[in-house]
Amino acid sequence: MTERNIVTMPGDGIGKIVLQEAVRVLDAVGFKANYIYADIGWEFWCKEGNPLPQRTVDLLEEHRIGFFGAITSKPKDEAAEELTPELQGKGYVYYSPIVGLRQHFNLDLCIRPCRSFKGNPLNYVRRINGDIIEPDINVVIFRQNTEGLYAGVEWTNPPDEVRSALETHPKMSKFKSTPSEDIAISTRIFTRKACHRIVLEAFKYAHKYGYRSVTICEKPNVIRETSGMLRNEALKIAPDYPEIQLWHTNIDAQMMWLNKNPEDYGIIVSGNMFGDIVSDAFAGLVGGLGFANSANIGETCAIFEPTHGSAPKYEELDPPIVNPIAMVLSACLMLEHLGEEEYASRIRNAIGAVIAEGKVRTYDMLRLVGGPDVIAQGAASTQQMTDAIIERL
Ligand code: NAI
Ligand code: MG
Repeated sequence: MTERNIVTMPGDGIGKIVLQEAVRVLDAVGFKANYIYADIGWEFWCKEGNPLPQRTVDLLEEHRIGFFGAITSKPKDEAAEELTPELQGKGYVYYSPIVGLRQHFNLDLCIRPCRSFKGNPLNYVRRINGDIIEPDINVVIFRQNTEGLYAGVEWTNPPDEVRSALETHPKMSKFKSTPSEDIAISTRIFTRKACHRIVLEAFKYAHKYGYRSVTICEKPNVIRETSGMLRNEALKIAPDYPEIQLWHTNIDAQMMWLNKNPEDYGIIVSGNMFGDIVSDAFAGLVGGLGFANSANIGETCAIFEPTHGSAPKYEELDPPIVNPIAMVLSACLMLEHLGEEEYASRIRNAIGAVIAEGKVRTYDMLRLVGGPDVIAQGAASTQQMTDAIIERL
């Protein structure tokens, strides 16, 4: 077996804690890799005026696989105040390094599996005639990661050229009398290439892992052009996969149905913003931030990360209390990407066994308010959870 080089970016806060736990699990399952540490996050913003130093980008250019913890980010003004005095007032502007990585490497697919583990006390349940039913949820969200509303093409007080270009559209007439300084515009640009790629990858994934449906979750009845393009690409690709049904839902209705029949869905495909929303919503049904994992995949580079942030209030707790499972599940996505399906499923089975047994639960799984006293209240520490998973391996 060849050894791989993986660029590890722990980042800030609990990112530093959970990343090393996930590496312990990867070692325990027998996965062989060289882990190459890279700088990212708040510390480098403050010291160097850049939360994503060029040396980190270079390492990713070279090795193409990133394993990322979490970063801290703060509003622009607050960020500027925390710069080291020598860098203040020199025009440094904070931007999110993970968004920067997605753009730089064109990590256009964001894959977010939301699968329930039996016995997780945080699972969605339904009450029918006094019975409590806990459906098996197994949904994988494919979110377009680089375009749409989050692409950053936006203005307050748009320049005249932008304004006059927009005025070629008849529906702009209702804004004609509003002065430019009172107008904010955020564009939603979709390209056919990106729509085609995400739908195709979603169908391939459904085929590979045996999902019976792909749902395009957008709003084509209102946002006709962009949602419409994604829908049309799906209609072209679906006939190549006759065993997989193509469904369409509107994002608003999907958010309602989510609580009614979440077990009916398989793969969901959405643009950037709706994908962000629907993936958080599904994650909430299967355990929330302690379980939410994701892959950012481009054609030449991929980065794997939990959905949660750096939760700075828990960084200093000794022992740490946060749930490492979201990070460990992100490692499973990395293993699958590298063709190590068997390691991934062994780790998932080990997590499933620990949860089903119910003896080792982090504070979030016990619905406790986080803090130093959760251990005394019966919660497992971060390391105890990792140890339990490793023991099952
Ligand atoms: P957060 O995800 O860091 O934490 C929110 C709450 O979720 C925590 O207080 C905790 O109760 C819970 N939580 C998070 N991870 C958990 C885990 N592994 N186990 C158990 N409970 C967990 O989001 P918040 O507080 O809004 O942001 C904190 C910082 O993280 C901010 O600076 C924010 O900008 C940044 N952030 C970074 C992200 C990234 O690196 N991808 C994503 C989201 C936020
Ligand atoms: Mg989000």
